[in-house]
Amino acid sequence: SWTTSSIVDEQVAKIAAQIGDGRAICGLSGGVDSAVAAALVQRAIGDRLTCVFVDHGLLRAGERTQVERDFVAATGVNLVTVDARERFLNALAGVTDPEQKRKIIGREFIRVFEQAERDLKAQGDYRFLVQGTLYPDVVESGGGEGTANIKSHHNVGGLPEDLQFELVEPLRLLFKDEVRRVGLELGLPETIVQRQPFPGPGLGIRIIGEVTADRLETLREADAIAREELTAAGLDQQIWQCPVVLLADVRSVGVQGDGRTYGHPIVLRPVSSEDAMTADWTRLPYEVLERISTRITNEVSEVNRVVLDVTSKPPGTIEWE
Ligand code: XMP
Repeated sequence: SWTTSSIVDEQVAKIAAQIGDGRAICGLSGGVDSAVAAALVQRAIGDRLTCVFVDHGLLRAGERTQVERDFVAATGVNLVTVDARERFLNALAGVTDPEQKRKIIGREFIRVFEQAERDLKAQGDYRFLVQGTLYPDVVESGGGEGTANIKSHHNVGGLPEDLQFELVEPLRLLFKDEVRRVGLELGLPETIVQRQPFPGPGLGIRIIGEVTADRLETLREADAIAREELTAAGLDQQIWQCPVVLLADVRSVGVQGDGRTYGHPIVLRPVSSEDAMTADWTRLPYEVLERISTRITNEVSEVNRVVLDVTSKPPGTIEWE
């Protein structure tokens, strides 16, 4: 539409003016926001943009391949992939507080970008960091005037104080639906533009309790099953997103075969929303819930119970941490 193309023109001009003949790094998460931010910056400065995909070990199954394949195929952008799984796991060891997790993850992202900047020095000076920060991220991190800090989004309230990069945030005033329209205008494929939101801190804020490699593996398996069944049922466009949460510090008694189990619950959190500022819990068909529950309890060891979150936002937030 006219308004979307004028947003694109305006932002491309602003980015070109801000970066001048400099170079920029953009952290790609696989999600819509960072993909659209990167595509805008690419339009403004071409191959003086290098995208960095950080595998922090908190990703869902298949995420890394999707970025490497879909986004690069669509844009031809320069992409560097960093395996930072150990770094993040070490930094998160022993941490259970949600805000502390968010700040550690935000900081470690920046440390990885700083390392990438040093590695790219031979090409030139990468002084700018592109982020796909949206308006709701800013508001909920307490960045708007008179707003409370609900939670520190990794790319806003989670940034370290000694940040050396100059930030480029072309989506800072936009909501998700506008970002999707900008993405389509820029020619990004539907597989990227229509993706459901997934938070930068990933599965790290969906394990209630300490984040460990084993727990991540458990949650990744449960999440893959839930997503597979929701997609098979044709529900992807109906729900905004469906976080799958592992209550790692809770155990309950169950029975399987002829034995007692003492495992962890998995929470399904399907929500419907326009902009993530408010949300309603999605009334999923019982047959779909049943299939997800049966498969998760059968296929994922350590999990013996599946529960459904029926809380709207407010009073709940979408993510549990
Ligand atoms: P909440 O949990 O605040 O989530 O209701 C609102 C939306 O934001 C996503 N979310 C994040 N996205 N970095 C992100 O990129 C973050 O730190 C973050 N925290 C929450 C969440 O998935 C939902 O779509």
